[in-house]
Amino acid sequence: MTDPEALLLLVDGCIDWSVDLKQYHVLAGEPLRLKCALFYSYIRTNYTMATNAKLRLIWYKNKGDAEEPIIFSGHRLSKEDDSIWFRSAEMEDNGFYTCVLRNSTYCMKVSMSMTVDQSDEGKCFSSKIRHVEKAEITHNKMIICPDIGDYLAPYKQPQMTWYKECERVEWRSSIIVNTTHVWIPEVEEGDGGNYTCELQYGSRHVRRTTLLKVTALQTSQPPKVLFPPERQDTSIEITPGKDQQLHLFILWLKR
Ligand SMILES: *[C@@H]1O[C@H](CO)[C@@H](O)[C@H](O)[C@H]1NC(C)=O
Ligand SMILES: *[C@@H]1O[C@H](CO)[C@@H](O)[C@H](O)[C@H]1NC(C)=O
Ligand SMILES: *[C@@H]1O[C@H](CO)[C@@H](O)[C@H](O)[C@H]1NC(C)=O
Ligand SMILES: *[C@@H]1O[C@H](CO)[C@@H](O)[C@H](O)[C@H]1NC(C)=O
Repeated sequence: MTDPEALLLLVDGCIDWSVDLKQYHVLAGEPLRLKCALFYSYIRTNYTMATNAKLRLIWYKNKGDAEEPIIFSGHRLSKEDDSIWFRSAEMEDNGFYTCVLRNSTYCMKVSMSMTVDQSDEGKCFSSKIRHVEKAEITHNKMIICPDIGDYLAPYKQPQMTWYKECERVEWRSSIIVNTTHVWIPEVEEGDGGNYTCELQYGSRHVRRTTLLKVTALQTSQPPKVLFPPERQDTSIEITPGKDQQLHLFILWLKR
C-alpha cells in the first residue's frame, strides 16, 4: 500500500473530484444529455474500456448532504453509456448529479450541476440561463449556437431556425445565417438583442439563447496627458512633508 492513490482510497473511500466546471443549462420541456465528466476531463478511459475492465458506473442525485441513487425506471430519463438522458427536463430535475465509477478496490466520482428554468413570460428563453456575448460597433461578430453537439445526428444536416427577440426576422443582407452560426460582418447598434437558435431534435426542440451586447467602439488612441500641460517645464516642486507623509512624485515624459 505505497501507492498514493491507494492511500487516498483508504482515507476517503472514494476519490472525489467535487463539482465539474461545466454547467448544464436547459429550458423546461427540452431534452438534455448529462455526461459523466470523469470520462471527459479526469481519466483517460472511456466508458467502453471501463465496462470492459468490469468497473461500474452509478448515478446519484444530491439531496442536501446526501446522495440518493437514481432509479432509471420511468420514460423521462434513462442511463445510456456514460450519460443520463433527460427526454424532457423538468424543474424538479434542478440540482447536482454525481457519477461514481467503481469496483471493489477502485472508486472515483465527480458531480455535475444542472439548471432547469422556464422561459420568461411570453418569451422563448430564460434570461437566467442565456449566454452573453459582447460586440463592438463596426467590428464583426460571430454568434454560435452553443452546446448542441450532443443533439446533432452524424452525417445529417441539422434543421435549425434562428430567432431574434423570439421572432423570425428578415436579416440585413450582409448578415450570413447558416445552420450553426450568425455572422455579422459589421455590427450596428440595432444588432444588440437576444438571438435564439432552435434545433429540431426528433419531435422536440433544443433551444439556446445568446444576449448580444453592442458597445461603442473602444478608441485605440493613447490616453491624453493631463498633467503637466504641454510645453511647460515638467519639474514640480515638492516640500518634504513635516508629518512624514510619503510624497509620490510622477513625471510624465512626452514622446
Ligand atoms: C474507447 O477507447 C478505445 C481506446 O482508445 C477506442 O479504441 C474506442 O474506440 C473508444 N470507444 C469509444 C466509444 O469512443
Ligand atoms: C479495479 O479497477 C482498477 C482500475 O481499473 C484495477 O486496477 C483493479 O485491478 C480493479 N480491482 C478489481 C478487484 O477488479
Ligand atoms: C456557417 O458560417 C460560419 C461563418 O461564416 C462558418 O464558419 C461555418 O463553417 C458555416 N457552417 C456551415 C455548416 O455552413
Ligand atoms: C433581451 O431580453 C431581455 C429579457 O427578456 C429584454 O429585457 C431585453 O430588452 C432584450 N434585449 C433587447 C436588446 O431587446
